[in-house]
Amino acid sequence: DSMKRVFSGIQPTGILHLGNYLGAIESWVKLQDQYNTVLYSIVDLHSLTVPQDPATLRQSILDMTAALLACGINPEKSILFQQSQVSEHTQLSWILTCMVRLPRLQHLHQWKAKAAQQKRDGTVGLLTYPVLQAADVLSYKSTHVPVGEDQVQHMELIQDLAQGFNKKYGHFFPVPQSILTPMKKVKSLRDPSAKMSKSDPDKLATVRITDSPEEIVSKFRKAVTDFTSEVTYDPASRGGVSNLVAIHAAVTGLSVDEVVQSSVGTDTAHYKQVVADAVIEKFAPIKREIEKLKIDKDYLEKILRTGSAKAKELAYPVIQEVKKLVGI
Ligand code: ADP
Ligand code: NA
Repeated sequence: DSMKRVFSGIQPTGILHLGNYLGAIESWVKLQDQYNTVLYSIVDLHSLTVPQDPATLRQSILDMTAALLACGINPEKSILFQQSQVSEHTQLSWILTCMVRLPRLQHLHQWKAKAAQQKRDGTVGLLTYPVLQAADVLSYKSTHVPVGEDQVQHMELIQDLAQGFNKKYGHFFPVPQSILTPMKKVKSLRDPSAKMSKSDPDKLATVRITDSPEEIVSKFRKAVTDFTSEVTYDPASRGGVSNLVAIHAAVTGLSVDEVVQSSVGTDTAHYKQVVADAVIEKFAPIKREIEKLKIDKDYLEKILRTGSAKAKELAYPVIQEVKKLVGI
């Protein structure tokens, strides 16, 4: 169906981790073959909601480009681009910002959590970035958005904004649907009640795609489990071990049951090594490809320029129509 359009984004700050890979990027790769128009954006404007060092940010944008290409994002099948190179996003964002009331944003869980963390230091951008996300999606009249569980509330905001716009100005935006990935949440290796995250200050909690085999082994060895040495899958009462089983299943492509079956008689201490080995094997070719791509900065920049030009071609007519509809 040529009217179906997929959009998703990832912030360039920090190195891709196992959670990003299993929860997002792996399904992004599959979607490239399932939909005609697929847009993946390195959302650098979103990174500016928290302080950034300019040189580091510039490098991180290229690193993320290399990582996505290495994971299988194919510029022949999808449009891979840098958000800030397509000015239509910020134009639509302003128009949508003027359509959303303050409490709607203040009530979002992520804002409440981040605002609590940052006390009074949180920027206005941190409050309004979900509106920029709406503009990211709607700039392309996207119909499908692969998202993690953590983004469900923000998708509701996007749907409300699309509907609100349509009600006021006549039907224009499709109401985008979420595509939830099968691997909903990879947990922190150190605290199975939290998700694995780039920003976790505990370096042992997050397995990065570029970690050395030694680092991966040592992180899994220190993963939090419990006093039962059997390998079982029971996320409610055995969060740590179950997270290992879920990771093991996801990287091998086996089911949770198959993984548990194959681990009968293995104790959790040894099982950590088994899972670490499976992760190392899964990441090895990606890691090699990243190293290769990172050498050619010009190539990476060209990929982003070409992608951004294609994205702009799609976004430009949409924003022209929007401006006409709102009377500017
Ligand atoms: P992070 O929270 O590590 O900064 P992002 O917010 O940049 O990650 O998320 C990028 C994508 O990866 C999103 O689609 C998000 O839902 C997904 N994602 C992030 N962390 C996890 C996780 N621990 N498990 C599953 N998916 C995740
Ligand atoms: Na495609």
